[in-house]
Amino acid sequence: MKFNVIALKMPGRKFKLGVILVIAATIMIVCCWGAGEDKEEERLKKEDVIFDIRNELDEAVIPIEQRLLQLEKSAYFSTRKIYPDVPFLMEKDRKRILITGGAGFVGSHLVDRLMKEGHEVTVVDNFFTGRKRNVEHWVGHENFELINHDVVEPLLIEVDQIYHLASPASPPHYMYNPIKTIKTNSIGTLNMLGLAKRVRARLLLASTSEVYGDPEVHPQNEDYWGHVNPIGPRACYDEGKRIAEAMCYAYHKQENVEVRVARIFNTFGPRMHMNDGRVVSNFILQALQNEPITIFGTGTQTRSFQYVSDLVDGLISLMNSNVSSPVNLGNPEEHTIQEFAEIIKATVSNTKSPITHVAATEDDPQRRKPDIRKAKKLLNWEPQVPLSVGINQTIAYFSEELANSHRRKPKPVPVS
Ligand SMILES: NC(=O)c1ccc[n+]([C@@H]2O[C@H](COP(=O)([O-])OP(=O)(O)OC[C@H]3O[C@@H](n4cnc5c(N)ncnc54)[C@H](O)[C@@H]3O)[C@@H](O)[C@H]2O)c1
Repeated sequence: MKFNVIALKMPGRKFKLGVILVIAATIMIVCCWGAGEDKEEERLKKEDVIFDIRNELDEAVIPIEQRLLQLEKSAYFSTRKIYPDVPFLMEKDRKRILITGGAGFVGSHLVDRLMKEGHEVTVVDNFFTGRKRNVEHWVGHENFELINHDVVEPLLIEVDQIYHLASPASPPHYMYNPIKTIKTNSIGTLNMLGLAKRVRARLLLASTSEVYGDPEVHPQNEDYWGHVNPIGPRACYDEGKRIAEAMCYAYHKQENVEVRVARIFNTFGPRMHMNDGRVVSNFILQALQNEPITIFGTGTQTRSFQYVSDLVDGLISLMNSNVSSPVNLGNPEEHTIQEFAEIIKATVSNTKSPITHVAATEDDPQRRKPDIRKAKKLLNWEPQVPLSVGINQTIAYFSEELANSHRRKPKPVPVS
């Protein structure tokens, strides 16, 4: 019986020990489980906090990133110039063209046209009367080059065509330094003809109706030899252009240089000089500023005015033609200076300018009208732009220039 009791007691202890172990293990598991849950909760909380911070950062950073992108874009576009459309020409059609005096009034319009045709254009100018502003819209374009150079000095450059326009063109400008005017038209033209000969380029000379002087025939055709005073105040220009023509034909005959000679009559349009002292600019500026419109002499002397785009058409047609003798380019619609003053007065709105007369200038030609039958027949060219259209464009240009010059004037400082 004792044995039985012991026997009964032994498994009871083991059982109790087992139960204790199971309970302890359960407690440990439950404790660990609880600690794990706490950690998970903490981790989730941390993740939430990080997520919130990220969101806040994103909210702050996104607008900054967008602003930076905007700034990058605007910097890109402000430094990147937008050029007028230029077509791509195949090499066989694309010409390398030099325009001397290309920063001037006529030259800059010629630059625009030739660039827009897709040619490679080099401008050579000493900026005596020309302005960088006239061609600045092309600066940096791969087809364009601007060289600050005086044609009185030799120039070496590879080109196919030369439009030789470099010369002061209005009386106050060419009379300002008559010796320089003579040098530009003589030595300058000699240099350009020498260049044309070396590189086998064709040269077009921008000559002038002034080679006819104060003409005795009317209208003036290309066979008329002219009536020029060789020692008068205009001689530096008139005789300068006559020797330039003579040089062209000497190079043509002796050296086989291909030459084209355009005898240009009065031309007007935007980019004319404000202070060139010519009829169109004088009258328009006077009318715009309500100053008297001054006519030199009686006003019965005549002029014919062509719009600059017509001249550019004519120059390009002549250059690409096979006409090597001189050709008049001008508008035969003739007006007396008095009529012209009245047209301007009527076109400039609200002007209060009276028309007045002052003493005539020396050697002022009395009649000027081109005979353009040769250009019509051989170049199929004649002016297209009506006087009224051209006048309106030019008035708009001068109004803008006047407004700009007023804006640029410094404000007077009050004196205490
Ligand atoms: N505008 C007209 O009504 C008219 C009439 C007849 C002839 N032309 C001729 O057409 C050409 C252009 O005339 P424009 O009205 O455009 O005159 P412009 O004065 O506006 O242009 C002449 C250009 O030649 C440049 N130049 C002058 N001397 C130079 C030199 N030594 N070296 C380099 N560049 C020089 C000037 O800086 C200017 O850019 C001139 O040869 C002129 O004689 C013009």
